[in-house]
Amino acid sequence: MVSDLFIQELKQYSDIERIVSGYVALKKKGRYLAGLCPFHSEKSPSFYVYPQTQSFYCFGCGAGGDVITFIRRIENLDYMEAVHFLAEKCGMTVPEDEKADALGMQRKRVLEINREAAHFFHDQLMSENGRQAYGYLMRRGRDRKTIRHFGLGYAPNEWHALTDHLKSKGFSEQDMVAANVAVMGKQGGAYDRFRNRVMFPIIDLRGNVVAFGGRALDDQGAKYLNSSDTPVFKKSKNLFALNFAKTSKLPGLILAEGYMDVIAIHQAGFDNAVATLGTALTEEQARLISQYTDKVILAYDSDGPGQAATKRAINIFDEVGVKVSVLSMTGAKDPDEFIQKYGRERFAMLLDGSRNAVEFELGKLRSKFDTQTADGKVGFLKDACKLFAGIRNPVEREVYVTQVANELEISPQAINAQIQSLDKREQYKERRRQKADTNIYIGQMAAAKNDLQRRANLRYAMAEEGLLYCLMKNPNVFKEVYANLKEQDFVTDINRELYSAFAKRLEAGQSIEMIELSSELSPEAMSRVSAIMATAPSQRCDEAALQDYMTILAEHRNVKTKEQVAQMDDNALDAYVKQLAAKKNRRS
Ligand code: UTP
Ligand code: MN
Repeated sequence: MVSDLFIQELKQYSDIERIVSGYVALKKKGRYLAGLCPFHSEKSPSFYVYPQTQSFYCFGCGAGGDVITFIRRIENLDYMEAVHFLAEKCGMTVPEDEKADALGMQRKRVLEINREAAHFFHDQLMSENGRQAYGYLMRRGRDRKTIRHFGLGYAPNEWHALTDHLKSKGFSEQDMVAANVAVMGKQGGAYDRFRNRVMFPIIDLRGNVVAFGGRALDDQGAKYLNSSDTPVFKKSKNLFALNFAKTSKLPGLILAEGYMDVIAIHQAGFDNAVATLGTALTEEQARLISQYTDKVILAYDSDGPGQAATKRAINIFDEVGVKVSVLSMTGAKDPDEFIQKYGRERFAMLLDGSRNAVEFELGKLRSKFDTQTADGKVGFLKDACKLFAGIRNPVEREVYVTQVANELEISPQAINAQIQSLDKREQYKERRRQKADTNIYIGQMAAAKNDLQRRANLRYAMAEEGLLYCLMKNPNVFKEVYANLKEQDFVTDINRELYSAFAKRLEAGQSIEMIELSSELSPEAMSRVSAIMATAPSQRCDEAALQDYMTILAEHRNVKTKEQVAQMDDNALDAYVKQLAAKKNRRS
């Protein structure tokens, strides 16, 4: 991308303290400065700026990095845009290498193509050409205002309608293909990818048209065709209509399955609905949602796949700390149909009465077991207790215990006893597991709050982090470390990414200062670097510690997975713990 030399120069002129002060009121606190975090809402300051390392870190939400990462996050820019932004602020010009320039230019052209295509599709829908498609949308209850609001369009039933139009505007076939609105024919020559479809533009948070979904009007091909990933779009990281929903005044977000559902819900007056883009919910999307709200209403289809998807989504949201309630629809297969059939008031009532995740699970159990029979009762109770053991709030737990006790006509005490024995077993297992751990430092790290992989592999993740910290503090040990430990020995992805970035630079004799890393690493990875440095006082970093970290990581190959450990009976668990302890004693 840009040369290190230039970045060093840029760093001299864009002191982090000065730049951040433009956005956050900072107070001096010893060797660092503190203020209210601009990336999450808080009342007391947990956002810190470290002039010495030219970095920042928020102990509340885990955002962190160097001055470039800060600008990327706060101005919502990519790396090169942030470099330009800073350079401009201090009157420098960026000497760019051609490749970076070429990619940036292509992204720009792809965005222009998308914008032009969206206009074209919309104009087609509103013209004589689009009469049938327009009629279709009307029949399905969408009104003119909604069509305009969402910028809906129509891709004509032709092979070169859009491609010819884009050519007349001076765009190349190559860029149309890159934008995924055209496909290159076998004999060469690009043709329209979307034909005879109602078009849904997908708009990112900056207002760029980044992709399209298209619904077939005939039986040709798939019902919905979506843009594949392009230089400006990643399916797994975007949500349909989040550009509208993010500014909604309504509480929480509604997550539906389809484009048409979202549009119907918005038209009914609930502008807080979003949908995934033709795929199941990803962890990235759940995390994105968690940045806007801590409460989601799942409004998936009422059919089998929809309910399975609901279950999956509940688990994913649970992991990222978002509360879930589930819309229970009867008499309609999806929110769109429900609203058409019963109207917006009934839908509002549905929203009010949306059941929470526990009730949803209980409902599933009720249909699984016949509680009129003794066997059914026992089965139901067993599964229900497992469910209740997972509820941490005692009051909430009590409510469900009472409810089920009444339902099955047994005493609440009996249910509570059952739950308690489950609880004890869990706690016991957990204690055993912890005993087997070498506690290196407290594994709390705001930047990793939602990192499931780290949580599942905490012992190794912490060793990795200790090791990375040693490398940052004392890059001279790199040769020794690298001789024993390669990238593939790292257990967690993000730490491996960091290690491999470190290794690449150190092998080439370059330094691993924050500002130089930020050209290679994502803002998430930069946050992690900051987190490791900020939690440093609790990290050991001497020769012995280094050896420990390496030993732990080398051990990983022989270690049982968490699932395997959970399956062990007490004897096997005991043996396993002893084996680990023996290893540890040999070391010390
Ligand atoms: P559905 O089949 O439930 O369609 O797919 P729908 O949203 O109810 O659409 P209508 O009402 O029949 O027009 C739900 C979502 O799954 C994705 C789309 O994102 C769709 O909105 N999907 C579905 C595809 O990507 N491809 C398909 O072929 C079908
Ligand atoms: Mn539908």
